[in-house]
Amino acid sequence: MKITYIIGKKEIEVDGETGRSLLDIALMNQLNTPYSCMEGHCGTCEAVIETGSTTEDHEGSRVVRTCQAQPSSDWVIVNYDKSPTR
Ligand code: FES
Repeated sequence: MKITYIIGKKEIEVDGETGRSLLDIALMNQLNTPYSCMEGHCGTCEAVIETGSTTEDHEGSRVVRTCQAQPSSDWVIVNYDKSPTR
């Protein structure tokens, strides 16, 4: 699977991995994604899923906490620039 991260107006595509969160995959690829608690409490890691699906998708909202959401489709686009907390 492919994951495209949009952060700081840059697009970076990396190989995804099932069983890992979007934040874990970003950090494994040395991307400078925001985070703090890593336990789903603070919201610092929130981002908008523009394409594809994750384990944390909720009806009517494309905002996920990337430390908890794992990719569940072949291609996921994660946009940190559109996070409601930034
Ligand atoms: S890092 Fe705190 S909710 Fe994800």
